[in-house]
Amino acid sequence: MGIERIIDITAHSDDPVEQADEISLRPTCFNDYIGQERLKNNLKIAIQAVKKRSDGTTLDHVLLYGPPGLGKTTMANVIAHEMEANLRITSGPAIERAGDLASILTNLQDGDVLFIDEIHRLRRAVEEVLYSAMEDFKLDIVIGKGPAARSVRLDLPKFTVIGATTRTGALAGPLRDRFGIVHRLEYYQAPEIEQIITRTANILNTQIHPEATALLAARSRLTPRIANRLTKRVRDFADVNGDGIIDVKIATQALQLLEIDQCGLDPADRNMLELMLENYGNRPVGLSTIAALTGDEVSTIEDYYEPYLLQLGFLERTPRGRKVTPKAQKHLASQQ
Ligand SMILES: Nc1ncnc2c1ncn2[C@@H]1O[C@H](COP(=O)(O)OP(=O)(O)OP(=O)(O)O)[C@@H](O)[C@H]1O
Ligand SMILES: [Mg+2]
Repeated sequence: MGIERIIDITAHSDDPVEQADEISLRPTCFNDYIGQERLKNNLKIAIQAVKKRSDGTTLDHVLLYGPPGLGKTTMANVIAHEMEANLRITSGPAIERAGDLASILTNLQDGDVLFIDEIHRLRRAVEEVLYSAMEDFKLDIVIGKGPAARSVRLDLPKFTVIGATTRTGALAGPLRDRFGIVHRLEYYQAPEIEQIITRTANILNTQIHPEATALLAARSRLTPRIANRLTKRVRDFADVNGDGIIDVKIATQALQLLEIDQCGLDPADRNMLELMLENYGNRPVGLSTIAALTGDEVSTIEDYYEPYLLQLGFLERTPRGRKVTPKAQKHLASQQ
């Protein structure tokens, strides 16, 4: 990655401390899961219906998609908790062969929830085994090799797959069709992010003034993961440079130090927009060209930079590439 990002939103942080923190802040039931009301309402009804029926049917498979850090993994945990079901966690790249998936599936129990993160990265051969497993809870496997090979069908327990992906476009149509509930997670409203920050400060035992909460919320890219990270960074700053209480003054100073501006952009975002403007002005720039400019992977640009900049109206997607909008130019000029 070109510049190390303070508000790095990479999907899977390797830092164990950070992971532990995410777990301790992660809501486990609908009541603690703030926002995404439409999704929650749909799921609540679906879950209640399944519980009421009690005829051995399970919750439809659920596909959650949307930008990183909006609460897909968290929602998978909440669903399993609300279903009072066991949650098994795996991910697309972790399942290397069809046999790996077969062993995961045969070890499930009735009612279990299987969470497959980054489901768009499943290998083709694995995906095909998953289709029939999801459709009729059967596992088709081939035993033996060559002329002696024969195919057998095994019955599987009734389970629910929850798939998560940052890109639905990358998901094969037939796989997508196996999900009964498909939902895009939206960016949060500012008041929802404020609620999340308040909740987090509470869990961290930190006092925060309401104006400081609003200030942090405005710079959190409408994303809970970033709201939590900023809250923790600002709390550290308040502990070192103040009396531990987060007020507007401390929050402003901390954000200045982190170089996060009023729109939540960090130096890497601003650098990308500036490079695009310097080299291409108002003309559209292809994704691979942007990646070459910043020294990032195309997928990093697509998954981490672009969604929020599009949401802000700072980038525009055209058939010939991405354009920096006048709104973004105005913002950049105000930062000089
Ligand atoms: N609705 C919410 N209410 C409160 N906190 C939330 C909510 N959604 C997410 N969070 C917090 O944000 C953190 C990141 O969420 P999560 O890991 O679920 O995102 P994700 O969508 O799975 O991201 P990725 O695509 O990177 O895997 C969680 O640890 C949790 O603390
Ligand atoms: Mg996740």
